[in-house]
Amino acid sequence: MSISGPDADTPLLAVSGLSAYYGELRALYDVTLSVRTGEVLSIIGANGAGKSTLLKSIVGMMNRGAAAHIQGDIEFAGRRIAGRATEDIVDAGITMVPEGRRLFARMSVEENLAAGAFLPRCRAGLRQRMDEIYALFPKLHERREQVVAQMSGGEQQMVAIGRALMSSPRLILFDELSLGLAPAVIEEIYRKVRTIHEQGVTCIIIEQDMRRALSVADRVCVMLEGSIVLSGRPAELSEAAITAAYFGQTHR
Ligand SMILES: Nc1ncnc2c1ncn2[C@@H]1O[C@H](COP(=O)(O)OP(=O)(O)OP(=O)(O)O)[C@@H](O)[C@H]1O
Ligand SMILES: [Mg+2]
Repeated sequence: MSISGPDADTPLLAVSGLSAYYGELRALYDVTLSVRTGEVLSIIGANGAGKSTLLKSIVGMMNRGAAAHIQGDIEFAGRRIAGRATEDIVDAGITMVPEGRRLFARMSVEENLAAGAFLPRCRAGLRQRMDEIYALFPKLHERREQVVAQMSGGEQQMVAIGRALMSSPRLILFDELSLGLAPAVIEEIYRKVRTIHEQGVTCIIIEQDMRRALSVADRVCVMLEGSIVLSGRPAELSEAAITAAYFGQTHR
């Protein structure tokens, strides 16, 4: 007998039959995936597999202008979000830490964090939320006046994560979380992500490092040429099967 409520089986995020296009170029083919509340999902795949396009589709960045568009359905917490504006999707509770971080390089740490609280619902609690983020990243507090361009890659990644947290999301999408960072910095970033996850935030992480993707995730998806070609729990997937899926080889 289940002791859970009636919505226990409803995923937090449900993507179904999603296709994405950049003009004539089709970048996603009929992608279906779901993420439950509290899960960590890792997505791996070669360059150009469509990982960033999938995340951009979820946060409403593939429906700006005529060229880039999506087909299919995306539901978050039971509500349809496909085709909605990014601002509405952030308001609903999803934020992204984008590939390349996309910070305001000439602005300070604090100004970048404040930029993450652009929604009307964030204004009243902005100071308190910022203090919570400084508690998570004491280094950012020490350097709150510093211009972001003068910070290391790891510190900038922390600013990007802090900015994403400012809107108090229920789901965070991390694109290329550790790319280009030194091993010790990657360890530190992942410790922070673990804390964020323990605080109740569901996570989707795009990660180049296959071993790390497997070690942090409840479930892993492998993308190849715009499709999900393999998914499952890390314990159920062999490294050989993942490698074969990643490179598009038939696994025997
Ligand atoms: N702005 C764009 N305009 C046109 N085509 C694009 C654009 N962005 C991505 N593409 C194309 O869409 C496909 C998927 O790209 P995407 O960036 O989603 O891949 P990715 O898996 O994130 O790759 P990477 O590991 O290099 O970040 C690729 O063929 C890419 O060239
Ligand atoms: Mg990418």
